[in-house]
Amino acid sequence: MFDRTAQDETPLTDALLEYRASAMAAFHTPGHKLGAGAPADLVEAVGRRMLEADFGIANGLEDTQESRGLLARAETLAAQAWGADIAHFLVNGSTSGVQALVLAVAGPGDMIIVPRNSHKSLLAGLIFSGAHPVYVEPTVHLGWGVAANVPTRGVLAALDAHPDAKAVFVTSPSYNGFCADVEALAEHAHAAGIPLIVDQAWGAHLRFCSKLPVDAMTAGADASVTSVHKLLSGLSQASIVLACRGRVDTDRLRAMVRMLQTTSPLAPILASIDSARAQMVADGERLWSDALALAARARSEIGQIEGMTVLSAPAKTAAGVCDFDPVRLTVSAAALGLTGYELEMRLRRESKVAVEAADPRNVVLNVTFGDSDESIDRLVAALQLVAESAAADLGERLNAEGRAARPAPPGPADPAGPAESLGLVVPTGLVEPLPVTPAMSPRDAFFATTRTVLLDEAVGEVSGEMVIPYPPGIPVLAPGERITAEVAAYLKEAALLGLSVHGPHDTTLATLRVVQR
Ligand SMILES: Cc1ncc(COP(=O)(O)O)c(C=O)c1O
Repeated sequence: MFDRTAQDETPLTDALLEYRASAMAAFHTPGHKLGAGAPADLVEAVGRRMLEADFGIANGLEDTQESRGLLARAETLAAQAWGADIAHFLVNGSTSGVQALVLAVAGPGDMIIVPRNSHKSLLAGLIFSGAHPVYVEPTVHLGWGVAANVPTRGVLAALDAHPDAKAVFVTSPSYNGFCADVEALAEHAHAAGIPLIVDQAWGAHLRFCSKLPVDAMTAGADASVTSVHKLLSGLSQASIVLACRGRVDTDRLRAMVRMLQTTSPLAPILASIDSARAQMVADGERLWSDALALAARARSEIGQIEGMTVLSAPAKTAAGVCDFDPVRLTVSAAALGLTGYELEMRLRRESKVAVEAADPRNVVLNVTFGDSDESIDRLVAALQLVAESAAADLGERLNAEGRAARPAPPGPADPAGPAESLGLVVPTGLVEPLPVTPAMSPRDAFFATTRTVLLDEAVGEVSGEMVIPYPPGIPVLAPGERITAEVAAYLKEAALLGLSVHGPHDTTLATLRVVQR
């Protein structure tokens, strides 16, 4: 039951403060003894106060392995705040939460329905568990070269084809803020008698402001993982896994979380989840309303900079996309001839502005309650500066080449238009999805002996590695999949086009690592 008054409690943060105030003689880890023995450069880099708070929760605060007392209370408060029956605090990010959830619902040989472009922690979860993935292709925003969400009809088809699947996993919001129709997905998974699990790494804030898209647990998910450190006040690595009793075995989930966590979780990381939760319950509506206003201003002003475009909400319900989180700003300077990486570098060098991420076409920026009019002004001014310098560079280059006209922008044409007109479609690669041909489980492929062969010789072999060309960042091959002539041809084309490729040992794609026959 949600008790609003109890949400002001921060048991772990209070205990941390008490411990620091007690001037304890520390005969426990770490060896620097609350900073007393720390090297001067480390003290300078992280500050004495950080070192004074640097100890595991077991040293004076709590015994994590049994999760009694303070941690249990903090987790109960978090479960109530995020709308779940249970919560587990994580100090290894949502990465460990995704892995724990896979292990909680699927064992060796079990089928699990997952998006083809899942975060890499899900592949690790499959390798740990021995489960077999049934992939659903996400929609791709062709104009921006980014993946969005899995369409509901794709999940339905997978459920029909695999009635024995143990769970449906989806990611929402996507990296660029596209939100899936979690409500419909939950209904379909439940009709099939299995849980819907949402990787909500980028959605810890959603529950705390009525102007934001609906959060996973409200929309009917049985479990989710959410990074408190990504958009809230959690220290880096702070995440939580949430679950409702019924379709997910919560005892097994707890066991998996314990297996995957360190036995020495840093007390400040755990306390930061406690404080971030209390902050959100007390003030989330106002904080995020203000952040949304800042994001709207940023979006509008960036959109007016010549050569810059910023991704906005697509039409609702198009191709699996049900809503959009406006606090993620995806910005492209493709019209100025800049890749996302170049844009990132110029922002850093010219204006000391650091982005969240860059891909071959775009940069992604987060706007939160930590921003202000000043920080948004600084961002807009920095982008303006890049636009001016890049336009001058481009003009010089074209002059030198004897060309007057600006090249046609490879970037998006109408960022505010409806999703379908923007090309939200369902391909894996450049045009159509490539058929996935599983030959063995990711786990069997991972533990198999591999050899390196030329790409041409790889046809017919089983891949020993993941290959993810960007854009759109969707795997073309995963460990355990047969390399067809079509896939090899696609990879050749990707290499020729100079697409950046993540995953394989040889990113030029001249060779691939395959399973030894
Ligand atoms: C969709 C998604 N899931 C999981 C993760 C892992 O989160 P963490 O960095 O908290 O481990 C990320 C990280 O970016 C992500 O984007």
